Amino acid sequence: MTGRVEGKVAFITGAARGQGRSHAVRLAQEGADIIAVDVCKPVSGSDAIASSTPEDLAETADLVKGLGRRIVTAEVDVRDFDALQAAVDSGVEQLGRLDVIVANAGIGNGGDTLDKTSEQDWNTMIGINLSGVWKTAKAGIPHVLSGGRGGSIILTSSVGGLKAYPNTGHYIAAKHGVVGLMRAFAVELGQHSIRVNSVHPTNVNTPMFMNDATMKLFRPDLENPTKEDFAPVAQFMHVLPVGWVEPVDISNAVLFLASDESRYITGLPMTVDAGSTLK
Ligand SMILES: NC(=O)c1ccc[n+]([C@@H]2O[C@H](COP(=O)([O-])OP(=O)(O)OC[C@H]3O[C@@H](n4cnc5c(N)ncnc54)[C@H](O)[C@@H]3O)[C@@H](O)[C@H]2O)c1
Repeated sequence: MTGRVEGKVAFITGAARGQGRSHAVRLAQEGADIIAVDVCKPVSGSDAIASSTPEDLAETADLVKGLGRRIVTAEVDVRDFDALQAAVDSGVEQLGRLDVIVANAGIGNGGDTLDKTSEQDWNTMIGINLSGVWKTAKAGIPHVLSGGRGGSIILTSSVGGLKAYPNTGHYIAAKHGVVGLMRAFAVELGQHSIRVNSVHPTNVNTPMFMNDATMKLFRPDLENPTKEDFAPVAQFMHVLPVGWVEPVDISNAVLFLASDESRYITGLPMTVDAGSTLK
């Protein structure tokens, strides 16, 4: 049986761990080869969450190779357009084509209310979570165009790209901006049969969400909250009875949007949110 994305090549950012790694593995399971990039180091002085490492990216590569697919990796910061372009150019040279772009890399540090957010934190957030998404697509699009077969671009936004939460306004602004990027790319690229959609996860079981700082935010009443303390409170955000979803739940949406099964779907903000946006 052929896979759902057999023979396609996908360029994925933030692929060292979390959702990006899961997307690489899921697409490889269904027959794609992968160009995987990640910064693999801290991106700002105030990171509350441990950064990914070169070993993490190597592990993603091992997982993809273990599925019998090819992978090209590079340590790149999505704020650096020239480095992104060099990575995708080299990947396409080695793998022969590009069909799918998954702009997934992002940071998720909470912070202050918008009026108290520092200019530095604002610039870092917008630089990675919004401009980095634009630069990722911009680096890959010439290769998808030159293939002449159409393609699929998937931009990772968030439930926070559709509704607002306090104390993380720079994230909310960047993720809403991703929807604007998605729509603008979709109208520009549709004539080339290149589809552009965004995915909007709720809480996902990755280091960005599953960490002490987030647990404390949800359970300020406890000194050292555990996953079990945190789950029922996180569940209040949802209609379905879960506090968070797994990376593969987002990967399954990405896979659908990457595959020809979604061939006439473009411009869609697709939620994977356990009903969060209904509330
Ligand atoms: N985890 C959640 O609850 C959640 C919810 C909604 C949306 N998201 C979004 O999903 C995406 C993936 O996040 P995740 O949950 O896998 O978190 P994660 O922290 O596990 O993974 C993010 C990856 O992106 C990489 N990255 C960060 N900045 C980068 C940069 N400047 N250049 C290149 N790579 C960079 C990191 O090194 C890391 O490997 C992000 O865009 C995030 O905003 C996450």
